Amino acid sequence: MVSGRGSNLRALQEQAPEYGYGIIGVVSNNPAAPAVDYARAEGLAVHVIDHRLFAARAAFENALVATLDRLAPDVIALAGFLRVLGTDFVDHYQGRLLNIHPSLLPAFPGLDTHRRALAAGARVHGATVHLVTHAVDGGPIIAQAGLTVDPKESAVALGARVLALEHTLYPYVLGRWARGEVAYH
Ligand code: GAR
Repeated sequence: MVSGRGSNLRALQEQAPEYGYGIIGVVSNNPAAPAVDYARAEGLAVHVIDHRLFAARAAFENALVATLDRLAPDVIALAGFLRVLGTDFVDHYQGRLLNIHPSLLPAFPGLDTHRRALAAGARVHGATVHLVTHAVDGGPIIAQAGLTVDPKESAVALGARVLALEHTLYPYVLGRWARGEVAYH
């Protein structure tokens, strides 16, 4: 599930053969997302569900569920999906809904993580793949990738280094998931 640039989607797609999982569909809430263009160019099945066309979040999420349930995925990977999902949606996919977040959770949930990590004087920073629960950016952590922060680097430079880690971490986790090596208790 995507909303924007789609660099994590690209990483997941490019590394799918290596790790043995397959992307059976891409769902975007944003019709203009570069991720949508990429997915179409790759021949992936794209489902655009524009949240702006729904009066209430519940109706938008019902449409998401209808589409996802038709696809019947083993796992749903949020890859820069930038809408907060409600409790009914999260409950429906509990245990198979993953997110990637650009910090070493529980440090720096929310937005603007790279600038905040620098401002806090963090010595290490990175990315987290976690199960989605009702707590925003608070679900059980599956895997993390970290790096050493250079206090003199910009938030943009730090963000680019973390993004490169994301592109390694997320396909790795999906590969482990596909082999049944991720347990959730
Ligand atoms: C990624 O950095 C991802 O970790 C972040 O959005 C970016 C999407 O980039 N996600 C979040 O902040 C979720 N809270 P992409 O569209 O190029 O994959």
